[in-house]
Amino acid sequence: MKGIILAAGAGTRLSPATLPISKILLPVYDRPMIYYPLCTLMTAGIRDILVITNESDLENFRRTLGDGSQFGIHIEYDVQHVQRGIADALIIGERFIGGDSVCLVLGDNIFYGPGLEQLLRKAASFDGGALVFGYRVPDPERFGVVAFDGDMNVTSLEEKPEEPESDYAVVGLYFYDGRASEMAERLTPSARGELEITDLNRLYLQEGDLHVEIFPEGTKWIDAGTFDSLLMSSTFVCEEERRIGGKILCPEIIAYMSDFISREELEAWLGRNKVNDYFRAIRDVIRLFLVFPLVGLDSSYLTIVNFEVPSAASR
Ligand code: G1P
Repeated sequence: MKGIILAAGAGTRLSPATLPISKILLPVYDRPMIYYPLCTLMTAGIRDILVITNESDLENFRRTLGDGSQFGIHIEYDVQHVQRGIADALIIGERFIGGDSVCLVLGDNIFYGPGLEQLLRKAASFDGGALVFGYRVPDPERFGVVAFDGDMNVTSLEEKPEEPESDYAVVGLYFYDGRASEMAERLTPSARGELEITDLNRLYLQEGDLHVEIFPEGTKWIDAGTFDSLLMSSTFVCEEERRIGGKILCPEIIAYMSDFISREELEAWLGRNKVNDYFRAIRDVIRLFLVFPLVGLDSSYLTIVNFEVPSAASR
């Protein structure tokens, strides 16, 4: 399965914060936002990834992630020249996808929680239509909304409806079979001039090939696309890391624990970066993991039971 991170978009909702740089490169706590959707794909076991950016931000993304080899993955880049919507990513990425199945994740979507690795790995082996995820929210009108009957058959799918038929938002993480690009090409622009991802999912629904799953209890989903949710995502990551005394959603840790890179390769990457709290904490987590291998629950949710990673101040 291939992976696509959609990191384009005008960023107008976060202006002026996004005047100098893409929203997807703004920091969420101590790392660029794009690290989080990258972790989602890596946790799913996806190593062949296309990042789609605005033309003006392309070099910034290249400088941030390079070719992905530091994480044992392969990253390519492409540009969305005109804001044509989320489904357009599957048209831009057609050559890259090459008829394979594909996972599309939005650059401002953060996923975290126990059980997520299992769910993502299972989804990555999915190849029969479209698979999307519902997440209960208090403000469904801000999102794509899915409603279903008692047997989980989808009864409606709408983009930002004024009167939502359920409380379940469709999160920005979509798994498609090899028809995704061809299906996206069949779409016509919506009233706001975009190829809506909800329209693509509705096309799969019409063909009887749309599957919906609800995220397990305790899963955290944040769309970091507003001022408040951006701040909340930083606070969440910082507080969660303090609570567990470790690091969460670090590509370095996921790469190492998924055997994408060896210990030597990880050490070499850490060695190329100046020591600071981020890299020091990763080193501490990996060191503890080597001594107590059983403490790793899953690679995106690494808990060091009963062990505090020493803070910089106490060293
Ligand atoms: C987009 C999609 C929407 C989805 C949301 C998830 O909305 O259009 O269906 O629920 O992402 O983050 P946007 O955040 O671009 O308004």
